[in-house]
Amino acid sequence: MKLIILGEPGAGKGTQAEILSQKFNIPTISTGEIIRNAIRQGTALGNEAKQYIDRGLLVPDSVVIDIIKDRLHEDDCKNGFILDGFPRTVPQADALTKMGITIDKVLSLEVPEEKIIQRISGRRQCNECGATYHVIYKPPKQENKCDVCGGELIMRKDDAPETVKNRLRVYHEQTEPLKDYYKNKDLLVVAYGQEEVKDTTKEVFKALGVEDYDYN
Ligand code: AP5
Repeated sequence: MKLIILGEPGAGKGTQAEILSQKFNIPTISTGEIIRNAIRQGTALGNEAKQYIDRGLLVPDSVVIDIIKDRLHEDDCKNGFILDGFPRTVPQADALTKMGITIDKVLSLEVPEEKIIQRISGRRQCNECGATYHVIYKPPKQENKCDVCGGELIMRKDDAPETVKNRLRVYHEQTEPLKDYYKNKDLLVVAYGQEEVKDTTKEVFKALGVEDYDYN
């Protein structure tokens, strides 16, 4: 399966992508994660991207398109992949088509804006490996410690309220038009986010036409 997940910041794209990735045994490619890793490592890409990401702005198309082009050529993408956070603009979507990539479905994950604020304000991320938690909905076993690697859990810099406002504005202006873009190609399916992660997964699988899944 070659799947794109669209949705506002904090809608739960990364959370659902991780579950789908395990179910279908295909990688999740998150441009946000790739960029944050580059920032943690202090690479040239990271240093360039940091000035955009910290202000809630999009990194230039040319930079992200190059990242994706390289990543989709890796061996683990042969049987499919999940794109989380790419494309985010019409030129990025056009670039994907020009790469000769045929997408099977585009999932739009819809969550009311007041929930988004609640989710983002409670999100914590591991400073070492990037694993994501939520203080209420997905707490770590030990307070402030990553279950995966024991690293310290911190709030993402771009999760500050003023920056979130910017990210939401950028989403509506530049990314939301992709819903019509893919609807016109007959690829768009919609799932509505629920209070619990596993209930959202049910909606996601229903939208994708997947029936045989144990949600517990
Ligand atoms: P990116 O990392 O892609 O951020 P985003 O789209 O803003 O999405 P988030 O990671 O904030 O949220 P999510 O939808 O994955 O939600 P999550 O699962 O974590 O991009 C960051 C930045 O990178 C951009 O602003 C831009 O600068 C740059 N960038 C990236 N891609 C780019 C591109 N293509 N072009 C240009 N620039 C690009 O869930 C959120 C929280 O809610 C978590 O704590 C989770 O535990 C909790 N939660 C999830 N589901 C539920 C549920 N059902 N119930 C309760 N809680 C839930």
